[in-house]
Amino acid sequence: MNQQQTPLYDALANFSQNKPVSFHVPGHKNGLYFAEKAKPHFHSLLEIDVTELTGLDDLHDPSECIREAEILLADLYGADKSYFLVNGSTVGNLAMILAVCEKDDTVLVQRNCHKSVMNGLQLAGAHPVFLNTSFDKSAYVPTGVAYETVKAALKQYPMAKAIILTHPSYYGISQDLRSIITLAHEHGIPVLVDEAHGAHFCLGAPFPSSALAYGADAVVHSAHKTLPAMTMGSYLHVKSTIIKTNAISRYLHMLQSSSPSYPIMASLDLARYSLAQLKEQGTEELVQFLQRVREELNSIPQIAVLEHDMQDPLKITLQTRCSLSGFELQKVFEEQGVYTELADPYNVLLVMPLTVNEVFIYAVRKLKEALQSYTVQGHDLPSIPPGGQPFSALAIGYKDLERLSVMHIPLVRAEGAISAEMIIPYPPGIPLVMRGERVTKEQIRQLQLLIETGARFQGAASIQEGKLAVYDI
Ligand SMILES: Cc1ncc(COP(=O)(O)O)c(C=O)c1O
Repeated sequence: MNQQQTPLYDALANFSQNKPVSFHVPGHKNGLYFAEKAKPHFHSLLEIDVTELTGLDDLHDPSECIREAEILLADLYGADKSYFLVNGSTVGNLAMILAVCEKDDTVLVQRNCHKSVMNGLQLAGAHPVFLNTSFDKSAYVPTGVAYETVKAALKQYPMAKAIILTHPSYYGISQDLRSIITLAHEHGIPVLVDEAHGAHFCLGAPFPSSALAYGADAVVHSAHKTLPAMTMGSYLHVKSTIIKTNAISRYLHMLQSSSPSYPIMASLDLARYSLAQLKEQGTEELVQFLQRVREELNSIPQIAVLEHDMQDPLKITLQTRCSLSGFELQKVFEEQGVYTELADPYNVLLVMPLTVNEVFIYAVRKLKEALQSYTVQGHDLPSIPPGGQPFSALAIGYKDLERLSVMHIPLVRAEGAISAEMIIPYPPGIPLVMRGERVTKEQIRQLQLLIETGARFQGAASIQEGKLAVYDI
């Protein structure tokens, strides 16, 4: 297929060129009526912020330019069917889970998944069995699920209806998913992959392989995370003999807005086009540039660039080698006008672009200067073992949890209690404690460490005061 085409963007650009008069929603009337002071920022975008007008197709029943754009998308990724998403990977995860999991189904799910995966399972009324991940000791970050873990979990839970994995990790560590996917297919169950951070993986080496290439049945991409797409723009791809695309379409219809943003959808069309162009031209220059940035960063004694053999070159994890924690390091960067993706107690994560631009090299040089005054020192990672069971189910199912009352107890006394909240250090937005899970000593220690080092949490109001909401049973 001709990946040079941008059918949705073209339709939109042509439409707006004709200076149409709007007697329809939205109320800004192609930008005619809008807060004056903000017009310079919004003006050109509002001209294409239209709705399902003649010739502009309908995301929920595509038959013209959106359909053509989605077909080009599927072609680039080698999927049977691909969808544009206007509510992020969040809606992609919800739709693929609801399409596959029914009430009371057992589902094997990677423990360090995004909250949208957990929410999807709760909405479906499924029973998750959490698969623990391996751990990268040098970065002190989770990696992927071991084949042996999945095999053992499938043996104990042969009724499992699906496996849900996250690939790559937030830190860009990927994994060869082939053996897990083969195993799942031998059991006749699909593998759903939240590949939010890997929309660019179809570029080929040295970028990791995509879950689609490994044979996954459904894969979600946050196009807006690594591709040049607008925030919230994402993709969902299906390539499966097990999953019915009808069910996915039906849930997307229910979960996505009936007024999807045309600027976001057009940016998805253009992001696919840019990615195809990059793939066609080759990534040599880009890869050399990414390497140069790594080398510049590596010349700063106060930080170390972490390496992993399955590392996405677009993600750079910097580990502190001075008195600053990862969070403090991030603050120093921000004082220089340099904003990073996330910090944890030991690391700061940079997300690089898919383009070559010297501005990033200049920024690194600024950081080098800013860090000069900090004494270089060795860094002891905690001796908290990643530990835990290879896999574990909830102590009480979601349905029964609704009937229980909740109380707050000191975190130090929470071992063995059943958590009434999902505790999510944010970023990266990965739940550390699940609602309905029996709290372990290991989790308490991890939480204490995060609190001590200044981590932020989403959803757990009293955790910063050292309290945990648990069920009163
Ligand atoms: C692994 C993972 N999955 C899903 C999501 C949700 O993606 P979105 O923000 O596109 O809804 C995120 C967001 O950070 C994520 O990190």
